[in-house]
Amino acid sequence: MKNLKKLLILGAGKMGGSLLKGLIDNTELDFDIVVVEPHLNRDNADLIKKNKIKHYDSIQNIKDPDFDLILFAVKPQVIEEVCNDVLENLIQRKTFSIISILAGIKAKTFEGHFENSQVIRSMPNLAASVGSAITALYANESTDKLLKAVADKIFSGVGEVIWVDNEDIMDVITATSGSGPAYYFFLTECLSFVAQELGLNPIDADKLSRQVAIGSSDIMKDSNDSLSNLREKVTSKGGTTEAALEVLMSPDKEFFNIFKRAVNKAYKKSKELSN
Ligand SMILES: NC(=O)c1ccc[n+]([C@@H]2O[C@H](COP(=O)([O-])OP(=O)(O)OC[C@H]3O[C@@H](n4cnc5c(N)ncnc54)[C@H](OP(=O)(O)O)[C@@H]3O)[C@@H](O)[C@H]2O)c1
Repeated sequence: MKNLKKLLILGAGKMGGSLLKGLIDNTELDFDIVVVEPHLNRDNADLIKKNKIKHYDSIQNIKDPDFDLILFAVKPQVIEEVCNDVLENLIQRKTFSIISILAGIKAKTFEGHFENSQVIRSMPNLAASVGSAITALYANESTDKLLKAVADKIFSGVGEVIWVDNEDIMDVITATSGSGPAYYFFLTECLSFVAQELGLNPIDADKLSRQVAIGSSDIMKDSNDSLSNLREKVTSKGGTTEAALEVLMSPDKEFFNIFKRAVNKAYKKSKELSN
């Protein structure tokens, strides 16, 4: 990427660290990377050391403060402070190419600090840590094709990418794929608890329920069938799966409605946080 060479990553925690790893492994991108992170965890410290990446514990301590692209990966609570630190300590200009992964922080927050900047808002999920994320990307009006292509490549390095052209949809993304892994972990936990109640020991129940989730994910990954087709394929007439699905898919939609309430609550919370 010719014109976007020098990349500053602000925050190398869980998500910033996963993206850093994805960037290092990504042969299509060749950035000079600088990382600012006050408390590097061991894995990220090893990653930075091994790949000879420049690291500073604060924006104030950066030695060569000139960057083409800034990736914001701090917690939303500190964004005002971090934007002010960027303006006070980086090269004397106000316009940057920006990619943010912050939940609930709108593009206009960055536009307010860095006038005329190109801003891409992203919502990855925790599966970025294993290269299996789904990331939604939204670009503000100033964003050019180059930054879009770069963002696409960065997040393709840690999983799949979709683009949205309405920023409000980011709240839907947050409630579904951002929080989504926790829903699957909970369903897996439930399966394990029920197996234990029915007599399986806790270790095997845990192993079994995890592998059911992994196996089902692998099938979904490899298949072009619709989700309802996949379900129907494992549901034999008069069998055990059908018996369970009669409860899960009861005519009053009890299970679906509980699930819908949960995701809607996450959606409402995401909207509250963005406002
Ligand atoms: N985790 C997810 O599944 C997920 C999914 C989608 C989006 N996100 C978004 O990703 C962002 C980061 O989340 P995370 O889970 O990676 O959190 P995290 O692990 O806490 O990482 C944030 C890191 O930023 C560091 N930091 C604080 N102030 C800083 C500063 N002034 N300059 C540079 N670094 C600073 C923090 O250090 P200290 O701990 O020392 O404060 C921390 O290590 C959040 O905005 C979140 O909304 C996360």
